[in-house]
Amino acid sequence: MVKFLVFIVFYVSFAHESYGLTDDEDFGSMAENNPTIDEEKIFLQLAGKTDPDEVKTCGQLIESRGFEYEVHYVTTKDGYILQNFRIINRYARESGKKLKPILLLHPLFGSCSVWMFNSPGGHIKPWINGHPPKDNSAELAFLLANLGYDVWIINVRGTSYSTNHTHLDPEDPEFWDYSFYEIGIYDVTATVEHIKKETGFETIIVIGYSQGTIQLLIQMSAIPGYDKNYDLVILITPIGFLGDKSGTVGAIPIPLFKLLFGSRNGPFPPVSGSVFAALDVLCRQPIVSPACVAILGGLLGLNPQQQNASRYGVYTGLLDRTSNKNLLHYLQFIETDHLCYFDHGEEKNYELYGSAEPPEFPFYKINPKKLVFVSGLNDQLATPINVQNLRNHLCDRVDTDHVITDPYFNHADIVLAKEAFPYLNDVVSQLIDEKMLHDEL
Ligand SMILES: *[C@@H]1O[C@H](CO)[C@@H](O)[C@H](O)[C@H]1NC(C)=O
Ligand SMILES: *[C@@H]1O[C@H](CO)[C@@H](O)[C@H](O)[C@H]1NC(C)=O
Repeated sequence: MVKFLVFIVFYVSFAHESYGLTDDEDFGSMAENNPTIDEEKIFLQLAGKTDPDEVKTCGQLIESRGFEYEVHYVTTKDGYILQNFRIINRYARESGKKLKPILLLHPLFGSCSVWMFNSPGGHIKPWINGHPPKDNSAELAFLLANLGYDVWIINVRGTSYSTNHTHLDPEDPEFWDYSFYEIGIYDVTATVEHIKKETGFETIIVIGYSQGTIQLLIQMSAIPGYDKNYDLVILITPIGFLGDKSGTVGAIPIPLFKLLFGSRNGPFPPVSGSVFAALDVLCRQPIVSPACVAILGGLLGLNPQQQNASRYGVYTGLLDRTSNKNLLHYLQFIETDHLCYFDHGEEKNYELYGSAEPPEFPFYKINPKKLVFVSGLNDQLATPINVQNLRNHLCDRVDTDHVITDPYFNHADIVLAKEAFPYLNDVVSQLIDEKMLHDEL
C-alpha cells in the first residue's frame, strides 16, 4: 500500500510539472526549467539546512574529510562530457606506493556523493611507517582511499555534474536521448580507458551499485572481452533481472508511466527541485522524517534500525536526475524481466536489430570468474529471486557470492546504513585486499 501511494505521489508531481506548467510541444520552454547546479543550491539554501553536508558538492565532501581531489573531464565517443572525480590521499602519495585504481559507479538518482554521504565521518587517517592505517568508515569511497587505493568516481551523463556535450545543448531534447545502455557502453568505457591512460595500469577494479551493476553487465556482454580490463567486477545489489513482482516494481503503474516517460526526451525530474526537493523539505522536518523512513523503507525494504533519520535531509538533498528515456528503458526491463536493448517498436527494431523484439544482452559472454556478487535478503529491487535469475544466466559460478548477513539489509542500506562498515564495506575491502595479495595486482 505504501509503495503504491508513493508511486501515485510521484506520478502526480510528474504529470503536474510536465503537462500542467509547461507546454510539452514547446521544447524551448525547457530553457527556464532546466535545472542547474546553482539553482538547486539556492533552492536548498532557501529551504533551510540542517546539516552542513546537505549542500556540499562532491569536491567539498572530499575536502571536508581532509582529502584532496582532481576533476577529470572525460569525453565519450558520442560526445558527452563527464565530470569525474579522483580522491587524492596525501599520506598514500607520500608513501610512494603505486596505488591500484578502483572505479565506483553510482545508482539511478544518485551521483558521486552517494559514496561519501553516509555519515559525518570518513576522515583521512595518517599512514604508519609507510603502511595504510586501519579504518572503519561507513563511506566506501573514503574507506578505500584510506586503505591505499586510488579511488575514481564516475558521474554518468545527465547528472548535475555531467551535463555537457561537445555539440548538443542540454536544453535540446536530443541530449536526453539515452538510457543505461549508452551509459554502459560509452560512459563506463571512456572512463575506464581514461583511468588506464592516467595511471598506467592495464587493469582496474570496478564497483557498481544498482544501476552501476546494470551498466557493467551491459558493457561486458555487449563488448565481449572487455572484462579483460578488470581485475575484479564487484556488483553490489546486482540487477540483471527486475521482474520479481514481490518487490517494489510490483507497485509501479507501468502503462501509465510508459506513457509519461515515453512522451518526449527530457530530464527527470523535469523541473529544478521538483519531486526531490519536495521530498527533501519533507524529510528534513524532525516530525516528518520518520514518515520518510517509512516511505523509503516501503520502497526499498524496511530496516529502521540501520537508518539515521536525522540525516535524511542530506540523502534527499543530494538526489540527482536522469533522462525520461532511461526510466522508460527500466519499465521495459521490468515488463519483460530480461535486460534487452531498447525497444523502439516493431518497425524500428527490425531496422536496428533484425527482429521484432529487441535482443537480450548475452550475459553468458561475461567471464564469471571476474565477478563478485554482494546482495541483501531484504532488497526490494535486487530481490533474492532476481539475483538467482542472474546467477542462472551466467555460464559458471561467480568468483565470490556474498549475501549480507543482516537479513533486513535493504537496497539503500548499501550507502545509508549506520552499520555499512561491518555489513558491506569491510567485506568488500577485505575481498579486494585478498585478491591483491593473491594475484599481486
Ligand atoms: C562544456 O564543454 C566545452 C568543451 O569542452 C567547454 O568549452 C565548456 O566550457 C563546457 N561548459 C560548461 C558549462 O562546463
Ligand atoms: C546521524 O546523523 C547525524 C546528523 O548528520 C550525525 O550527527 C550522526 O553522527 C549520525 N549518526 C551516525 C551513527 O552516523
